[in-house]
Amino acid sequence: MAEKATIANYVTDVAIIGSGAAGLTAALQLDPKTRVTVLSKGGLESGSTEWAQGGIAAVIDEEDSVESHIADTIDAGAGLCDPEAVRFIVENGAEAIHRLDALGVKFTREPGSNTAYHLTREGGHSHRRIVHVADATGKAVETTLAGQVRKRKNIDVLEHFTAVDLITEAGGDGEIRCAGFYALDQRENRVVTFAARTVILATGGASKVYLYTSNPDGNSGDGMAMAWRAGCRVANMEFTQFHPTCLFHPQAKSFLITEAVRGEGGRLLLPGGEPFAEQFDARAELAPRDIVARAIDHEMKRLGVDCVYLDISHQPADFIVRHFPMVYARCLQFGFDMTKEPIPVVPAAHYSCGGVMTDLAGRTDIAGLYAVGEVAYTGLHGANRVASNSLLECLVLATAAGKDIAGTIHSIDLPEPVTDWDESWVRDSDEEIVVSHNWDEIRRFMWDYVGIVRTTKRLQRAQARVQLLSSEIMDYYQNFRVDNNLLELRNLAIVADLIIRSAMERKESRGIHYTLDYPETGTPTGPTILTPETRA
Ligand code: FAD
Ligand code: SIN
Repeated sequence: MAEKATIANYVTDVAIIGSGAAGLTAALQLDPKTRVTVLSKGGLESGSTEWAQGGIAAVIDEEDSVESHIADTIDAGAGLCDPEAVRFIVENGAEAIHRLDALGVKFTREPGSNTAYHLTREGGHSHRRIVHVADATGKAVETTLAGQVRKRKNIDVLEHFTAVDLITEAGGDGEIRCAGFYALDQRENRVVTFAARTVILATGGASKVYLYTSNPDGNSGDGMAMAWRAGCRVANMEFTQFHPTCLFHPQAKSFLITEAVRGEGGRLLLPGGEPFAEQFDARAELAPRDIVARAIDHEMKRLGVDCVYLDISHQPADFIVRHFPMVYARCLQFGFDMTKEPIPVVPAAHYSCGGVMTDLAGRTDIAGLYAVGEVAYTGLHGANRVASNSLLECLVLATAAGKDIAGTIHSIDLPEPVTDWDESWVRDSDEEIVVSHNWDEIRRFMWDYVGIVRTTKRLQRAQARVQLLSSEIMDYYQNFRVDNNLLELRNLAIVADLIIRSAMERKESRGIHYTLDYPETGTPTGPTILTPETRA
């Protein structure tokens, strides 16, 4: 049975689970007297941030305005954005960019200028307002933040540690507080305990729950599942965003073709060469992503084709190579020269608009537990995220959370001892096939039944399957020693269930959530909130 430990394996002031833009930004807000531990289940520079291409939306241009950025965000969010969250995040955008610039991110400048940022345009934005580093913005941001974190003596970095579950305790006043968590030390292959005054979840999104995704492998919704198991509310889980243009090639693993290609004039074409985006929205290729992804899905199904094409070859070759060096090189690797020909593209799961509910300081329902970045639901994105608002949200909310924690951390007691991890009754797995089979099955039925176009029948089918698989996975989890794959599978099953349940609750089509049974958009009734009382 579980025992009280005399001391946790690791004791720290602030434990940050996740080392993308959100986790690292929060870490850098904490003063040198605060002991900070940053965990990553991969290397320090892993996660979606490292892969981000297009850039960061912020009001920089004199002709642009905060009101316009707010209006575009709210328009794309289709009636479900929280106006207060939108205003807070948009108003703090320019400052976040200047801070990154001061830290050393070399944003692309206007030709001939050392100061003026070059701004691109992406879907749903009525102005050029995307600050970027060519087409590899995330890498530049992540490398810079990681470099700063490595220099800080008060920050310990633990790579290849997978957080498993949060540890909570009830205070004298009945308040539930996060006391730490368990994590799998992948190198030692053992589960260790962490005690912390405060824990920040910065674990990114959950798009790996779909068979085809633009995301890195680790995006299995771990933070969402952990927070849910611990008793937090989650919101808007039905809104998984599908990016319209990922490279269609069997070895390309849905490599993203940045929306900025469309921003610089890229046209979507049918296999016969006809443009089609304008038939679906007057903004054509630059309509919000839900509209463009649905248009592509519609045309692919109508014509029974495997992909559509994205063509920017009318632009001068040196312009394309200068603006999109990474995308150009990657396409060439797969035999497509985008300076000369259209490239084949398909939509793929890209971003989780929903997540763990937080306020505008990143606080969750559990005292001492924060959530920032893609893992969180702040109200910014509503029913659909506008391009390049995600990194913006990571930077602004992680800064707010870091500041909030900095102001309170020294008055919080260290919660020791924490309960030991007990694996006295488990044994080594004897049938890994159970894990790989279930993993594949979840991702496949989520793609087929809970994808771009839904129906009640498909959602019911998905729900029946996830219920069956969840009990099989729990049985396996309770009897066998954990490894990364099993932990991710357990989390994927929870996230899949939350997405399906939320989608079934929303009896209308809105933003990214589109169902043939309720094709109309009703009067907005607010976010879909799932509360811990409804846990199975
Ligand atoms: P991530 O950067 O995903 O980091 C998550 C971290 O959590 C990783 O370090 C991971 O190892 C760690 N982690 C996860 N689970 C655990 C666990 N159990 N234990 C320990 N560690 C864990 N957004 C934009 O605004 N602009 C763009 O141009 C843009 N382009 C994109 C391009 C691609 C290909 C993708 C996939 C996304 C893009 N996005 C973009 C979205 C954006 O990149 C992400 O939403 C954002 O980077 C998320 O940052 P994050 O810090 O929340 O999480
Ligand atoms: C892209 O570059 O198209 C991705 C931007 C985003 O997801 O915000």
